[in-house]
Amino acid sequence: MSDIVLKEVSKSYGAVSVLDKVSMHIQSGEFIVFLGPSGCGKSTLLRMIAGLEECNDGEIFIGGERVDQLPPNQRGVAMVFQNYALYPHMTVRDNMSFGLENVKTPKAEITRRVEDAARMLEITQLLDRKPAQLSGGQRQRVAIGRAIVRDPKAFLLDEPLSNLDAGLRVRTRLELAQLHNRIKATMIFVTHDQIEAMTLATRIVVMNNKKIEQIGTPMEIYARPATRFVASFVGSPAMNFVPVAAVSDVGGKAAITFAGQQPVQTAVPVAGLPTGNLTLGIRAEAARITHDGTGIKGVADVIERLGERTLVYTKLLDGTILVAEDEGISTIQPGDNVSIALDGNAAIVFDAAGKAFHAAV
Ligand SMILES: Nc1ncnc2c1ncn2[C@@H]1O[C@H](COP(=O)(O)OP(=O)(O)O)[C@@H](O)[C@H]1O
Ligand SMILES: [Mg+2]
Repeated sequence: MSDIVLKEVSKSYGAVSVLDKVSMHIQSGEFIVFLGPSGCGKSTLLRMIAGLEECNDGEIFIGGERVDQLPPNQRGVAMVFQNYALYPHMTVRDNMSFGLENVKTPKAEITRRVEDAARMLEITQLLDRKPAQLSGGQRQRVAIGRAIVRDPKAFLLDEPLSNLDAGLRVRTRLELAQLHNRIKATMIFVTHDQIEAMTLATRIVVMNNKKIEQIGTPMEIYARPATRFVASFVGSPAMNFVPVAAVSDVGGKAAITFAGQQPVQTAVPVAGLPTGNLTLGIRAEAARITHDGTGIKGVADVIERLGERTLVYTKLLDGTILVAEDEGISTIQPGDNVSIALDGNAAIVFDAAGKAFHAAV
């Protein structure tokens, strides 16, 4: 049992509030990602779970035990930092053994655990090197290895991939997913990179402005964002947002008109939808260029050719830019008049405060 429960955890530095009544229940064995823009409090929250920052208010439980008053070494969690924090004068083996020696683990046990972890991470041949003789990716593995040997109840990882170059980052991400599949430990991973969050998480905690915006599986977060902030933070290209000119009720569902366009039938129930100041949200893959002149109208502005598809940044009649998709081999040129079919079933409506209204499930 190594579930982690946060109950109304708050933090301020002096008069500045950083986290406000954050609550969540992380199941044993989950891979949880804290995702949010820089400065939203992800590291602070992780460090509070680790015991490196005090809580001003609230309670933290790990494996059923209340831990928020315990020192870090009694919480049974291991932290992996962005800068690895390896001791430069020690070998890899000593870096990995150090924490266990401190708690007086028998020597033979230390050797066994270090060698098991090294094998798992494929760094056996590096055990006698010093950190300066390792690549960034190898240092990263050593930092994870040092956490594994402690057999923690949970791994806490703060942006562990952000110092790696792009290719290595993708490989290390994959390794981390494989490692989690093998050891099935509870992991909390902090990142501001939505692709890392989408690819690694069993559930994503989207944070913004001291609070949790939404907790959900990657596809829940992607397809049914709770707020406009979540919708705009996850997904690339970012979701399109188009101002709504008028709403009419067609069989209980909202038919939505943009300035000067034909209505788009959505699956969003009209009941409960506030009046005035609405925005329609739609992803580029649900906005297809038509080649028969049907759909809403605009003028192609920028064309991005991605190989398997083409993104067409289209200026609508009201000046809004809508990113639509066309085939990989697209003949569209900047300045062309284009028509776009929107998949109304994938459309989301947002009110003025950014709250999302979805089709019924
Ligand atoms: N020791 C500190 N003293 C004062 N403010 C801090 C301290 N640590 C972090 N903060 C502030 O708390 C906020 C959250 O920081 P942090 O948790 O590091 O964000 P993130 O990891 O999401 O980028 C930021 O506004 C940051 O400036
Ligand atoms: Mg941080």
